[in-house]
Amino acid sequence: MRRLYTVVSLSVGTLLAAMALSGCAGASDGRRIVRIGHNQATDHPTHVALLEFESYVEDRLGDRYNVEVYPSELLGSQTDMVQLTQTGAIDFCVASNSILETFSDNYTLFNMPYLFASAQAYHASMDDPQITGPIFDSTKKAGFEAVTWIDAGTRNFYTVSTPIESPADLKGLKIRVQQSPTNVEMMRLLGGSATPMGFGEVYTALQSKIIDGAENNEMALTSNGHGDVCKFYSYDMHQMIPDILIGNCAFLDGLSPEDRAVFEEGFLLVNQVERQEWTKAVEAAKQKAENEQGVQFLYPDTAPFQEICLPMHQSVLGQYPDLKPFYDAIQEHNRANGPEGGGTQ
Ligand code: GCU
Repeated sequence: MRRLYTVVSLSVGTLLAAMALSGCAGASDGRRIVRIGHNQATDHPTHVALLEFESYVEDRLGDRYNVEVYPSELLGSQTDMVQLTQTGAIDFCVASNSILETFSDNYTLFNMPYLFASAQAYHASMDDPQITGPIFDSTKKAGFEAVTWIDAGTRNFYTVSTPIESPADLKGLKIRVQQSPTNVEMMRLLGGSATPMGFGEVYTALQSKIIDGAENNEMALTSNGHGDVCKFYSYDMHQMIPDILIGNCAFLDGLSPEDRAVFEEGFLLVNQVERQEWTKAVEAAKQKAENEQGVQFLYPDTAPFQEICLPMHQSVLGQYPDLKPFYDAIQEHNRANGPEGGGTQ
């Protein structure tokens, strides 16, 4: 990551042109540059975990690989970065599972609202290779594959000035959602007006009142400053959507078995470090949002929200019947790890 600060002032276009000239993924000092892009700030658990990955790989293979982590959409929006990873212009990026739904229908599974009965059920499902394995491999033909998942907590609604206590409060509000058909449909059912846009545009849209609110985990309030504008955060708990670290298949397949093993250990480390950091970061974000930004946290009854969203499970499974076995396996984890041992339905 030695060159991060020299690229901060370059536009994405300039940066990508420079990469193209240096020959796709490029090389420095005879070492292969491994570029990883993500859209979070440098204080975010994702960035901390990717820096650990960089150290892990360079400590073992630093004579041959120079890992560079680009935060804050320096390489473009998540959709841009997935496309760059697909073509091999960069080697890895972190993409929300929501965005991946537009590249492969299989990812629709983890975007369903109220899919997981608890954080434990969510973690157990995402840690289950029988569930994630086939889905993570399913984009290989498109040039990329998922190498690990990253916890992104629970998504909840937050608004500039309207406390959301029940679905009725969403009526008529313009709420930013991620660019995925599932999220747009969820918002439609809940009665709000879905406004899909990239993550980097949300702060300005809130500030200029183009939208009335958004939905995300608590980190968006602090790390992205949304809590400076939005004063009500409601724990309706509608989704637990993981982030996914994806890699270019040609790069991964070109690694020797020994190098690949080190990269695989590094991917595992990304998952572990991020999860440890996540719990602390969310607690700190809540404290900061409440005490310094004046955000009020609300705890509405989640049942009316769930009731409206649950029919989506059957409609998604009707549209994508291949997802049924994975959905059923998640229900097993829900039964084993749900509140009082019960699932969502
Ligand atoms: C979370 C998630 C990001 C995503 C963002 C969004 O921050 O970790 O991957 O881009 O939400 O709402 O777009």
